[in-house]
This record gives sequence, structure tokens and C-alpha cells, in this order.
Amino acid sequence: MSRLPVLLVTRELPSLAQKRLQGLTNVQVRQHNSIDVIGRQQLLEEVKGADGIICLLSDKIDTEFLQAAGSSLKVVSTVSVGYDHVDTKALKQHGGVKLGYTPNVLTDATADTTVLLALMASRRAKEALDIVSSGNGGGFSLSRGLGTQFTGKTLGIVGFGRIGCATAERLVGFGFGSVLYSGSRPNEERAQPLGAEYVPFDRLLGESDLVCICCPLNDKTKGMFNKSAFEKMKRSAILVNTARGAIVNQDDLLEALNKKQIAHAALDVTVPEPLPADHPLVHHPHCTVLPHIGSATEETRNAMGNLAIDNALAGIFGEPLKAEVRL
Ligand code: DGY
Repeated sequence: MSRLPVLLVTRELPSLAQKRLQGLTNVQVRQHNSIDVIGRQQLLEEVKGADGIICLLSDKIDTEFLQAAGSSLKVVSTVSVGYDHVDTKALKQHGGVKLGYTPNVLTDATADTTVLLALMASRRAKEALDIVSSGNGGGFSLSRGLGTQFTGKTLGIVGFGRIGCATAERLVGFGFGSVLYSGSRPNEERAQPLGAEYVPFDRLLGESDLVCICCPLNDKTKGMFNKSAFEKMKRSAILVNTARGAIVNQDDLLEALNKKQIAHAALDVTVPEPLPADHPLVHHPHCTVLPHIGSATEETRNAMGNLAIDNALAGIFGEPLKAEVRL
């Protein structure tokens, strides 16, 4: 009797996707049945002989991993749109293993989170919440904790792909006077209805009141928000990052906040994740930190889980993936 293909799943999936996974009869599911990250050694052990893997952004897919998997591996299906945790060169060299990912389904949720952080920062929500929880607050005050509003200001979006565009589309509703964007290439079709202008990164930094990082992490974007970038930004500027933590140099950010070179940073993504509770950015009154919840809605996480299952099954059975990264 021929064996069923093995599908390794490195995490418990969101409830509906998990139910579907448990009902699969055409593969043998080998799962790390926990909401916690699988340990590296366990991952290397469990992947042996697998035909497909459903992984997360916390699982490093590199040469060591691929060697541990062996020649049976046909597909790596990540439950994320970002795939900077995957060594795509190594994957290409490993006998044509396909890479599935989850674009589109998380665009709205992630753009919503970017708006949430932008509003929290501009209206100084962290300080306001601290006033309430410390019991030191009064009620209404005409002059305490005043924030700024977006009316007539300049919005800067770094990375005008799916999430960057969806973020700009939401934020124009708050009355921004102009929208600038930068990235690897212009996106006229989506930019035109918003009146968004494609500008060099330095101009975006110098003119924007709110800068939203929506680009992927790669060799070009790693650490692009550094000392020199912060020096070019307005002292009143707000920086929001819902992309990847490593795009921002956190030491330089801390210095910029301490020197009041920018007004506020709001981060959904950090290095490491989670950021230790005693990290100075966590306690900085002008820095808001969330634990990478950009796509964390019931609807989106189940859609991501389902798409990852679709991609994994397609890869295992030699069919076209619903969403494949062209390597
Ligand atoms: C992704 O998909 O890359 C996000 O960071 C998690 O939703």
C-alpha cells in the first residue's frame, strides 16, 4: 500500500482552518499542535520526509531546513504575505520546491491596523490610557494631552503595493492635503484616484507628517529607517510600521525619539518579537508597540489558514498553487 503524503504544520491554525485540516483524508497531517513557536531542533526533526509544510514567519526556511526535509519536499506554504523568513535562493536550488503565500486576504486587516496605530499616535492614546490606569487623571481638560489631526497634512506611504494602497485609500478619508509615496516603482493606476505622487524617499521623509511603512523586508529596505532617515524627518512627524521590524533601526529610533527628532513611533512589528517588556521603546511615552497583530482578525486569519492549506495541497499533488511566489 502506498503511503499518504505527509503535511507538516508547524502551529495550530485558526479554528475554521484547523477543523478543515483535521478533516483532510488525502494527506497524513503531522502537526505541532500548539499556539507557540516550534523549537528549531523539533522543526528539523519533524520535517524529515515531509512532502509539504505549512509554516509561519517565525520558522526559518533555509538550507539546513531543506537538507533536513530531504528530497520528498515539494512545497513550502507560509501563512503570511511576507516571506523574508524563507531563503528563496536555497529553495530554488532544492529541486524546484514551490513557495505558497497568502496575499490579498490580509490586506484590509493590515491596512486597518495601520490606521489604528496612526490614530493612536496622533491622538496620544498611549499617554491617555496611562493617565487612566495610573489613576492620576482628571476628567475633561482643555489643554492636557492634546494631539494633532490629519486635516490638510501630508501622508507618506513607503511601499505602494496592496497594503500601502489600501492604507492610503483609508487615510485620505481623514482629510490629508496631499499623499506622497515611494518604493521600487510607481503604481500610477492606484495612485491617480488618490492624487498620490511618486517621490524619492528623501523627499517623502522631509515633507510627510505621517509616514507609514508598508514595504516588504529585503536587502534594500533593511534598516532604511536609520539615523540619517530620522534626521530628514519633520520634528512633528509620526512613524507607523506594520511591515517588518528590521526595516527600522530600533537603536536609532530610540535616539530620535529621545532627541525629539520625530514626535511618535507606532510599531506593530519589532526585532525581536515579542519585544522584551523592559525594552526602552515599550516604556517610551512617545512609542506605541503592538505584538504583530496586523492581520489578527477571525476572518482574515481563517482566510490565511485556508489559503495556506490550498497552496500546500496543490503543491503536494502537483497542481498550480492559488498564490505562488515566483522564485
Ligand atoms: C504577514 O502575513 O506577512 C504578516 O506580517 C502577518 O500577517
